[in-house]
Amino acid sequence: MDYNLASPVGTTVGTTLDRFISKKQEQFPYATGELSQLLRDIALAGKIVNREINRAGLIDVTGAYGSQNIQGEEQQKLDVIANIRFIRALRNGGEVCGIISEEDDDIIDTGKPNGRYVVAIDPLDGSSNIDVNVSIGTIFSVYRRLSPRGTHVEERDVMQPGKQQVAAGYLLYGSSTMLVYTTGYGVHGFTYEPSLGEFFLSHPDMLIPDKGSIFSVNEGNYEDFSEPIKEYLSFCKKNRYSARYIGSLVADFHRSLFKGGIYLYPDTATAPKGKLRLLYECNALAFIVEQAGGKATDGKQRILEIEPSSLHERCPFYIGTSAMVDDVSTRIQQYKQPS
Ligand code: AHG
Ligand code: MN
Ligand code: MN
Repeated sequence: MDYNLASPVGTTVGTTLDRFISKKQEQFPYATGELSQLLRDIALAGKIVNREINRAGLIDVTGAYGSQNIQGEEQQKLDVIANIRFIRALRNGGEVCGIISEEDDDIIDTGKPNGRYVVAIDPLDGSSNIDVNVSIGTIFSVYRRLSPRGTHVEERDVMQPGKQQVAAGYLLYGSSTMLVYTTGYGVHGFTYEPSLGEFFLSHPDMLIPDKGSIFSVNEGNYEDFSEPIKEYLSFCKKNRYSARYIGSLVADFHRSLFKGGIYLYPDTATAPKGKLRLLYECNALAFIVEQAGGKATDGKQRILEIEPSSLHERCPFYIGTSAMVDDVSTRIQQYKQPS
């Protein structure tokens, strides 16, 4: 019988998220435990949101809420519920001095000036899939604040490039619910066991395959794509790659992480910066994919190098297996407009 005795205690498959986080913290003698607690807070809010999602259809959480967010998108009830749950958990935890959320126009001051961290969050990703029982998610990024502790959060605390992230992750509310995160030492996946109310380590040290044959893009926008993107898509088809597009970034990314492939959300003439948001969608997944051996670019540079210029800014997004992302980026950079 294999008891996996070679693995360090507390990091074998089946370890609870709590124990895993504690064991990881012990490896850093100067760690204060605040980041560990923050991750636990997110996991707790994730369990609560998961419960609401699982009952969608039975309780009144589907459909539109009746308001718009700052980007003019109609907020769904679950967008609002998830936002409240995550903000409440992070505020109660006390480790976070400020939050930037897709659902709030401005930075949220948590009223915890001693909090060492700031969080950027997309509380509910894939809103268009809520009412039709298709996988949705939550995306989060954690940064160390730049302003001194004991003071209120400032804009510069949340406007940091993605390479400054100290942790990032996502929850996927899918056929099973998973929490996948990194603190810069590999990517680890945990699967939720609802009857026990625990996340268990199921996928330690995740790596993205270095070859892929799946492309993921909303081809309804094809006519608006630039020539290099159109050419890349026809290359994929000529090579008989499979097309997969769920329409929830978390779910499309999760598949790419497991199976390899590329996810594209390009810029177009009418949406010159694409659709996805740098601070609470792209940065977190870029950090994760790089930790897993993949790449993420806006076609011109590493997502993690982009200096943000506004809270809700968007950026074109190409993420997945390194060779495929390189291929698209090269085509974009080498393309010469016909004169
Ligand atoms: P959100 O639900 O947080 O607003 O994000 C929606 C995003 C993302 O989840 C998804 O990949 C993308 O929008 C889908 O956009 P299209 O419907 O334009 O393909
Ligand atoms: Mn989203
Ligand atoms: Mn969202």
